[in-house]
Amino acid sequence: MTKVFINGEFLNQEDAKVSYEDRGYVFGDGIYEYIRAYNGKLFTVTEHFERFLRSASEIQIDLGYTVEELTDIVRQLLKINDIQNGGIYIQATRGVAPRNHSFPTPEVKPAIMAFAKSYDRPYDDFENGINAVTVEDIRWLRCDIKSLNLLGNVLAKEYAVKYNATEAIQHRDETVTEGASSNVYAIKDGEIYTHPVNNYILNGITRKVIKWVAEDDNIPFNEETFTVDFLKNADEVIVSSTSAEVTPVVKIDGEIVNDGKVGPITKKLQEGFEKYIESKSIN
Ligand code: PDD
Repeated sequence: MTKVFINGEFLNQEDAKVSYEDRGYVFGDGIYEYIRAYNGKLFTVTEHFERFLRSASEIQIDLGYTVEELTDIVRQLLKINDIQNGGIYIQATRGVAPRNHSFPTPEVKPAIMAFAKSYDRPYDDFENGINAVTVEDIRWLRCDIKSLNLLGNVLAKEYAVKYNATEAIQHRDETVTEGASSNVYAIKDGEIYTHPVNNYILNGITRKVIKWVAEDDNIPFNEETFTVDFLKNADEVIVSSTSAEVTPVVKIDGEIVNDGKVGPITKKLQEGFEKYIESKSIN
């Protein structure tokens, strides 16, 4: 029986219900994280929960949980559901209150929900790459907050699906920002380029790991903006996320990248990522 965490309790899936007045449901007034487990261990969980608390703080939600307490919740969730390799989704909303745009007065307790699911690593994508399309980035200007408001991302991803692609690479004017659910990198002449960490992108945890690998392997990691044209003329292109890890992009808007092959820097990053799975996972 699948168990779901809701506000301090592990409930059977069919009993896991939330209120119609939950502000996450009504306003998208909340934040989330998606965390991976490999062989029963949590990968970069501290980094995820530090970002979770930062997102909460940026929208003025006081969660009332520490990184350690949150880690304990997802640890128990994995155990109860007997998950070895999978993903954990956790979200917090401002809570339940009659519909009114401004924050509830008196204050209400945030509502927290988490569930875990088994998930196999996308080996086929790692080896063969994916297709991507480019799309205008229409999202708000606080993409650094991992908020529940994902309409821009949802529409971008659906556009990708419509054109038989796996990811939509977003751009503001001609500047590439990030994917619908990933960070984006162009590799040119042995150097990596990716959008700097600011309000236009999510500061990806996988991006962080890729930066560590690049440093270990002495591959220059340039946190600079670049154009769609630069991306399309790159030697290699990758996207990264907790679920996609280091995924090569072999086609963008129908144009082949690197003869449709996975390039040498991408392979190095994939190998390095594998080592971090070992060293950055905890029980
Ligand atoms: N998304 N940018 C966006 C817009 C994302 O949604 C994600 C991840 C990333 C990569 O972040 P990270 O490496 O920390 O997973 C970048 C997750 C996987 C999701 O929405 O399910």
